Parts: sequence; structure tokens; C-alpha cells
Amino acid sequence: MQEQEISSILRVGDLDFPKRKVWMKTYGCQMNYHDTERVLSHLKELNFEKTESQEEADLLLFNTCAIRDLANQKFYSHLGNTKKLRDVKIGVGGCIAQTDSKELLDKYKHLNFAFGTDAIDNIKEMVYRAYMGDDKFAVTSWDKSENYSIETKMTHGSPQAFVNIIKGCDKFCSYCIVPFTRGREKSRRQQEIVDDVKKLVEYSGIQEVTLLGQNVNSYGKDNNESLASLILDLEKINGLEIIRYTTSHPYDVSDELIAVHGSSKKLANHLHLPVQSGSNTVLQRMLRQYSVEHYLGLLEKLRKANPEIVISTDIIAGFPNETQEEHEDTLKLLDLAQYDFIYSYNFSARPGTKAARMQDILTDEIRGRRLREIQAKQLLIQEKMRKNIVGKTIRLLVEGKSSFKGETKWKGRSSCFRIIHFKPENNEANYQWHWVDVKVISATALSCQAELLFDHGHKISPIQ
Ligand code: SAH
Ligand code: SF4
Ligand code: F3S
Repeated sequence: MQEQEISSILRVGDLDFPKRKVWMKTYGCQMNYHDTERVLSHLKELNFEKTESQEEADLLLFNTCAIRDLANQKFYSHLGNTKKLRDVKIGVGGCIAQTDSKELLDKYKHLNFAFGTDAIDNIKEMVYRAYMGDDKFAVTSWDKSENYSIETKMTHGSPQAFVNIIKGCDKFCSYCIVPFTRGREKSRRQQEIVDDVKKLVEYSGIQEVTLLGQNVNSYGKDNNESLASLILDLEKINGLEIIRYTTSHPYDVSDELIAVHGSSKKLANHLHLPVQSGSNTVLQRMLRQYSVEHYLGLLEKLRKANPEIVISTDIIAGFPNETQEEHEDTLKLLDLAQYDFIYSYNFSARPGTKAARMQDILTDEIRGRRLREIQAKQLLIQEKMRKNIVGKTIRLLVEGKSSFKGETKWKGRSSCFRIIHFKPENNEANYQWHWVDVKVISATALSCQAELLFDHGHKISPIQ
């Protein structure tokens, strides 16, 4: 017993690291969730194991998001609640920490350290410092190295992986905080990503990758490489079945990339292409650099290249001084674009951005009403779009199961990013991370039911 305890202690530099537990809360986008995975993977090397319970934890970490006021408020209230906890170290990372670390450390006395979005890979040094007794420090400097070079780290056992290909954003849309919290664009080299994904497929059983970045369409500009050519290279990897990428900016969608949507067998039948507004004058004030006509032209070309493709988008309701007519242009755009789903938000003024400095006559009430109108209209369109798939055979990668009123159903995601539910053949059947073919029997705007046709198991076999 004694011996085991001794061997479970890790000696690092001048410190002993016994087995400890880390609790980590993540807010925001997929990049943040992915960063959290990197942090947890690094911390394993300091003898930390993940826990879901704050009370059980020795170290609490927050990975924050600053995109809208609501995201900020949620974090501040969670952080406030940790004041009562004793004998823990607390660190705050992510987008709020990048811009506001000093204020955070001043205001929250129980906070030990803060770290920015470029300091993720230094987490071990920071935790070490905290355990050395160093208190109240922040690491928010930008990584100055010329290349963005990393290796994807995973802590979960699923066949789906997120792979960073570019960081930062140079677009400076007038409402957006991201260029301030994530810094300038920097891409990984194409060959490094291909080797990384090959390894993930070979050694971690990965079959689906999502290429990540705030603006993946500008991937490779700094190195004379491109997203289209990266996808064509990844396509050649045996055992990799699905390639996705997110998020896109319409300005940089090239004809070459659209052609790949037509020719690629592995690129998903789904594209999330944020439009933000259906009004050209609002798009100008947002500094989005494209017109509604250009955007709709892209959708037309994409749908021509791949008739199966499903499109989704982001919309901001009530941009400063948006007129009723400008708002109605967004409602019209929903009809023209025929989205499969949308994420829509009320405009939220982010300190330091151009839009936050605009004189604004809109009230919260008008903004709220416009958002509800956008969402109600989209639901009608969505219902119609989704009914179209009734009767079709669709392949899914099964992600889990749920029980409702004693009935168990499994759910999986299609190439076109829809979640589809189906009943098991019997209660003992286990489809976790299987590929299955299903036939859709009913669909509404928000849910889709199917019957199981064929279970391929963990690897896709030719349709029987
Ligand atoms: N890089 C992506 C968006 C990342 S942020 C792009 O260019 O589309 C995700 C979404 O949050 C945005 O698409 C936008 O719809 C929304 N968003 C960003 N800033 C916002 C703000 N200040 N108020 C409301 N929504 C905002
Ligand atoms: Fe924000 Fe615009 Fe960059 Fe997207 S492209 S992250 S909306 S600044
Ligand atoms: Fe939020 Fe930062 Fe992502 S502001 S949306 S966590 S890049």
C-alpha cells in the first residue's frame, strides 16, 4: 500500500505531484472545447485526472468565452460561486482571460492565475508555478513563433476528432471580439496536419475529423497552401471516412473549394456558412466584405457542385440602428437560402469593437422581437426541408442513446449533420460508434426518427 502510494507521486523539478483531480468548465465555441481537451491531456502528465465534481477537485479551471454578454455573465456567476471552496487552486483561461486577466485577478481574490488563448500549451508550467506558491499571475502573451505547429491531443475514446488548422482571425467584423481574444491568423503547414491526421486514424481509431479555425477559409494563405488542397490530401487517408470544417467566412470561399465539395467522397454533405444579415447595408456596417447577392451565388454554386449539400448559418438580430426594412431583408434571405438550421443571436455590444462605439437607437425589446421573428420563420422553413428526407436511406455514425418513458433510442449523426434517432433491434444491442444505415420514417423541424436497416459495426462495410 505504502509502496503504491509512493509510486503514485510524480516528482517534477522541485515539487512532488501526488494524484490530484482537476475540474474544468468550458464555455463558447468548438475551439475552446478543443483547447480544454489539450489542457486536460497536458495535465495528465502532472498526475491530474479529470473530475465532474467541484468539491472533489484540487484544481479548478475555467475556459471562458467573450462572444456575447450572456457568455460572460454565466462565467462570472460560476466563478463567484467558487469563493466558498477551500484548498483549491483556481485558474481562468480562454477569451475573457486574454483581454481581462488583470481585472479578473484584481477583482477575484481567490483566483490564482489567468492564461490567454495562446498559452494553452504552457499549462503545465503555470500549474507548477501555482503549486510552487506563486500567486496572482497571468500569462497572456502571444506566441511569436513564425509557424503554428502542434500535435493534436485527445483524451476521449470516440472516432471523432477536432483538429486545429488555423488560429486567430484577421477579419475584424465590426461587432466581433474574436480578433482581440485570439490574435492574428496563423496556419499550420499542410504536411504537418496530414501527418497528424494519419496518426490519429492509425493509432487512435479516428474516422471523422473536423478541421477547426475561426476562419478556416483563409487557411494556408501565409504559406501558399489552401483548404481545398488540404482536403484533397486528407481524402487519400485510408480509414478516414468523413471530413468537416468549421467555421467559414463567405468572403474566402474559393471556386477551388466549391469544386472539392463536388468531387470529394469524404467531405461532409454539410456546410456552416455564417451570413449574419440579409441586408447589404447592415453587412457593410458589419464590415463583412460580401453582398447578399454574392453569398446567394455561393450557395447556388455549392448546391450545383453537390446537390446533397445542406447549409446552415449564423444570424445576428438587431445590429445597431438596423431598420425595419433591413430586418425584413433578413427574413427574405431565409426564404431564399433555405437553411437546414440557424444559430441566431441578439446583437451584444462587445467593449473595444467598432459596433460597440456606434450610437444605437434600437431597444432590447425591438431586438428580442426581431430575433423571435427570425426564429419562427426559420422553424417553418426547417420543417419543410426536413420532411424532404422522409423515406430516404441515410448512413449515421452512432453517438449515443437516450431513454424516454421507458423506451430506449439510439442516435447518430449523418454526413449532412442531422441527428437521427432509431430503435434498437433488441434492448441488449449496443451501437455505440457503429456505422448504421437507417430509413427515415418521420421528421419535424427539430427531430427525426428512422428505422434501422443495417448495422456495419465499427467499420463501414459495403451496403448489403
Ligand atoms: N468566425 C465565425 C464566427 C465566430 S463567432 C464567422 O465569421 O462567422 C460565432 C457567431 O457569434 C458569429 O457568427 C455571430 O453570429 C455571433 N456573434 C459574434 N459576435 C457577436 C456579437 N457581438 N453579438 C451577437 N452575436 C455575435
Ligand atoms: Fe469574428 Fe468576423 Fe472573425 Fe468571424 S470572421 S471570428 S465574426 S471577426
Ligand atoms: Fe467565444 Fe472565444 Fe470562441 S470569444 S466563441 S470562445 S473564440
